[in-house]
Amino acid sequence: RRSAAEFVPEGADLAALRSAAQTCRGCDLYADATQVVFGDGPESAELVVVGEQPGDVEDRRGEPFVGPAGRLLDKALAEADLIRGGVYLTNAVKHFKHTERGKRRIHKTPGRTEVVACSPWLTAELALIRPRLVLCLGATAAKAVLGNDFKVTERRGQVVALDEYEVVATVHPSSVLRAPDRDEAYRAFVADLRGVREHLG
Ligand code: URA
Ligand code: SF4
Repeated sequence: RRSAAEFVPEGADLAALRSAAQTCRGCDLYADATQVVFGDGPESAELVVVGEQPGDVEDRRGEPFVGPAGRLLDKALAEADLIRGGVYLTNAVKHFKHTERGKRRIHKTPGRTEVVACSPWLTAELALIRPRLVLCLGATAAKAVLGNDFKVTERRGQVVALDEYEVVATVHPSSVLRAPDRDEAYRAFVADLRGVREHLG
């Protein structure tokens, strides 16, 4: 089956990965997107944050987490004493999946097929960075890293030890923006990030 695997160059550094991803055709999502949105941040990062997929703003700008969810994430990271500049930010899926409704582009959650097809990029990023901890934002990211059966609702904030790194899953910042009690959802999100900060020491 199709996947990004054949587009991932061997022995590449992060810059070479990023440039190879521009022409990925590992699934159909490239066709309706403006551009690929690859991960961003230092190769020396101890913490990698994985989101779902770029949103509308990210798709136009070509950078991860620069829209409304990204602003909330930045604020929460800062409150948890985690500095965005020291974190590598990326997504489980690197192209924006959406439908058009008039002039608006509506986010569509990527399916398992797209997550699996795109996973060679995330695997390659993690193999180069070798972080101590991977923080997954939302169910799509958590399933991409921890397997399809993982349930964020049952295990948010818990440290899961894998061979290569530890993993913590929490909710997606977009879900905080949509929550009926936004303040409470935000406090719980920051608490999970503080847990990560304390765990890293
Ligand atoms: N949501 C994500 O999951 N990733 C982004 O880069 C932006 C919004
Ligand atoms: Fe390639 Fe991932 Fe984009 Fe699909 S979503 S075309 S696998 S980079």
